[in-house]
Amino acid sequence: MEEIAQLESTLLARIDELETPRDILKAPEIKQLYAKIPTLDPAQRGVFGQKINGLKQALERVVAEKESQIEESASVPLDVTAPLHINSKLPKLLSAEQGTVHPLRQEIAKLIEIFGRMGFVAEESRELDDQYHMFESLNFPAGHPARDEYDTFMTVQKDTNEEAFVAPAHTSTMQNRILKKYKENLDKDEPIAAVVPDRTFRNEDLDARHEHTFYQIEGVYVAKNVHAGMLIATLQKFLEEYYGKKLEVRVNPFYFPFTEPSFEFALSCPFCEGTNPSCKVCGGEGWIELLGCGMIHPRVLQMAGIDPSVYTGFAFGCGIDRLVMMKYAIEDVRHFESAKLDFLKQF
Ligand code: DAH
Repeated sequence: MEEIAQLESTLLARIDELETPRDILKAPEIKQLYAKIPTLDPAQRGVFGQKINGLKQALERVVAEKESQIEESASVPLDVTAPLHINSKLPKLLSAEQGTVHPLRQEIAKLIEIFGRMGFVAEESRELDDQYHMFESLNFPAGHPARDEYDTFMTVQKDTNEEAFVAPAHTSTMQNRILKKYKENLDKDEPIAAVVPDRTFRNEDLDARHEHTFYQIEGVYVAKNVHAGMLIATLQKFLEEYYGKKLEVRVNPFYFPFTEPSFEFALSCPFCEGTNPSCKVCGGEGWIELLGCGMIHPRVLQMAGIDPSVYTGFAFGCGIDRLVMMKYAIEDVRHFESAKLDFLKQF
């Protein structure tokens, strides 16, 4: 009898260590007690049996109590928008396959971080814009032939057949807004310095190098006495930080309606550094034409209410997909929008 009383306290203590409290009722010690019954004096068997049942009932009560406690704590309201690890009450199985941030978004975070260190704030673009921001504010007057180069998706007004909204074909659509938003910086003798990494759209025929949906990063910098050397140095520094190595850069004259002078900006191949005649990134050229840039056209500043006789600025626009493809030697731009898990899981 004493043995039974002692076992009760041992088993009660053990319940707390079990993941499933009910398992205590299957403890081998209880079985052993039952096995003892036939060995006892028949007169004692009845009392002994009752004692064991008493022990089991005592355990059962405690188990039931524990179970209701567990159930209560499991019914804590579940925030389905919280990250999985916070809802630790969820079965483990659910947390096995978590999604990850898309590779382009991961790289965009790095771009924002690098430009952030250089004093640029990051702004978002939008996925539907108007003709004014796509063209007029960037010094493309109506009928300007360069408008056609942008393969811009547009909505058409049902009744009038007029073209109305545009899917931004470049992040330059944000220049006028950025200039207006941060104009007051100039009064405080601070520069306007912003980048806009976001989605852009063009009516392109798809191939390994062309996507209809892609990303660009726009940069805008305005202050007194800004000159082209600052543009080139800023871009070179940014690219060296992003690729983690020293790079050669060069500029060639180009044409954009919103910059004067305008440049096409090239860098030495960050992948082979010009050493591999069959490099799949630069095709053995050693140089890559990467982006467009220039000194902001005085009319673009004027349209944002900034006096171009006092302030000058530079701007640039760079394809992000291309930047990332060169970093990791990704051969096909379509992988990014393909939702191919084999591709995405590498990042
Ligand atoms: N928006 C141009 C494009 O997509 C790129 C560009 C060129 C942006 C020069 C700029 C710039 O800000 O100054 O082709």
